[in-house]
Amino acid sequence: FVNQLGDDGVPVDQLLASPLHASPVSSLPLPPLLYGPARRNSEGVDLTVTTMRAPLLAALATTSVPVVPLFDASRAEPAVAQALRALPAWRGTPVAQRAARLRHAADALQAELPRFCALLVKEAFKTWGDAVAEVREAVDFLRYYADEAERIMQPVALPGPTGESNELRLVARGPWVCISPWNFPLAIFMGQVAAALATGNTVLAKPAEQTPGVALEAVKLLHAVGVPADALQLLHGPGETVGAALVAAPGVAGVVFTGSTQVAKIIHRALAAKDGPIVPLIAETGGINAMVVDSSALPEQVVDAVVQSAFRSAGQRCSALRLLCVHEGIADGVIEMLGGAVAELAGGDPALLATDVGPLIDAEAFDTVARAVDALAAHGRPIDASPVAVPATTHSANFIAPQAFEVPSIEHVRNEIFGPVLQIVRWSGDPATVVERINALGYGLTFGIQTRIDSRAMAMAAQAHIGNVYVNRNTIGAVVGVQPFGGEGLSGTGPKAGGPHYLYRFCAEQTLTINT
Ligand code: SER
Repeated sequence: FVNQLGDDGVPVDQLLASPLHASPVSSLPLPPLLYGPARRNSEGVDLTVTTMRAPLLAALATTSVPVVPLFDASRAEPAVAQALRALPAWRGTPVAQRAARLRHAADALQAELPRFCALLVKEAFKTWGDAVAEVREAVDFLRYYADEAERIMQPVALPGPTGESNELRLVARGPWVCISPWNFPLAIFMGQVAAALATGNTVLAKPAEQTPGVALEAVKLLHAVGVPADALQLLHGPGETVGAALVAAPGVAGVVFTGSTQVAKIIHRALAAKDGPIVPLIAETGGINAMVVDSSALPEQVVDAVVQSAFRSAGQRCSALRLLCVHEGIADGVIEMLGGAVAELAGGDPALLATDVGPLIDAEAFDTVARAVDALAAHGRPIDASPVAVPATTHSANFIAPQAFEVPSIEHVRNEIFGPVLQIVRWSGDPATVVERINALGYGLTFGIQTRIDSRAMAMAAQAHIGNVYVNRNTIGAVVGVQPFGGEGLSGTGPKAGGPHYLYRFCAEQTLTINT
């Protein structure tokens, strides 16, 4: 591999002495591990997918997506008032009991994995692999936040002078508005709701308009395990009306939002303009996520990571790779190999087990991405790849084939394209300059580094103003409790979902000092 070296300063002897960091390359993009017991055999084969094939297909035949009534925006204020009335009882329920209900919900959801997968395939056009991964992530969130709430909500005794006791404790803030996206209609919905409920808050859940059916079934499941109906209300409708009315309603104690940067800013301004208390916002938004590949990287590993990061879930992940920066010394080889890998992907109907890349969520998304591709074609050069095979099915209506364009510079990549579209730039010289230019884009969600030089990877990670950095692997599929997820800058406020600091933001702190 000495011949693969470019001119980016990789000393040959250092490279030869470096350990390999190749992540296991699999032909199937496997779902993440469950928080808790592993679900793979010793060879890394996913046990759920292999053992549940028949139940998954049976569920597809028997599951229909429920119709959810639209909520009238004028009822937002009464709904928040109801959530306020429900607060004392739910906040007063011992944390162990709240956690126990969430764990029951996790068990119930796990037992119903095939039905929820079928809902995700039918309503959100998820591929089976993505659907299984998403149900698992939702289960993980329930268990993780149950554990975390029990951990952090114990009062902490603090040292003080004799004759005085001091204690610090966390308490629920009040009603939270949870606004969740269509791209993870179960996992992110459940994560937001579980975090708020575990900490004793009441919830007004506003799912994305495109995916209310999954949300309804999730709420039914939570009510069935003992979360009171007025502690968790589902309010389905457009963000512009129902979402806006909820955010504006008096009595809201916090808003947690996952979606676009633009809408996060609208919510931020709306909260700032409210009379009354200062209301916290947790926002997790998008990114122009980059991967920097130096000349020491392993091309096969790079291509595997790029295909998963850019094209899995049809690129409809906030974590998805948008910008590949590949060193010019290996760029031709990587791009050629990438073209071959793209041509191998099976696209189209998400209900087929073989499908790798499903359609976009709706016609509006299709139009937006198609327009962005047209604009890219004006200044970019499409990489050579045979067309992706698309079976003719009704579900393929909004399918856009995975594709990649070479563009002249990092600065040409101005907007997030929320689809299976990758932009590629070549670089040479100092990798620190590349990271600096990526930082200058202003987003900071995920970042991939492909190199066999440990010190370089560490230096680039330290330089990047980016929340999730992945070295020598793909950049998607953060696992709850393992890779706490969330960005900075235009990509969000933090704290990180699925991480040990997340629940603190849902709580107020009280110091109790008693003169004994
Ligand atoms: N958490 C998801 C991922 O890591 C994105 O929301 O891909």
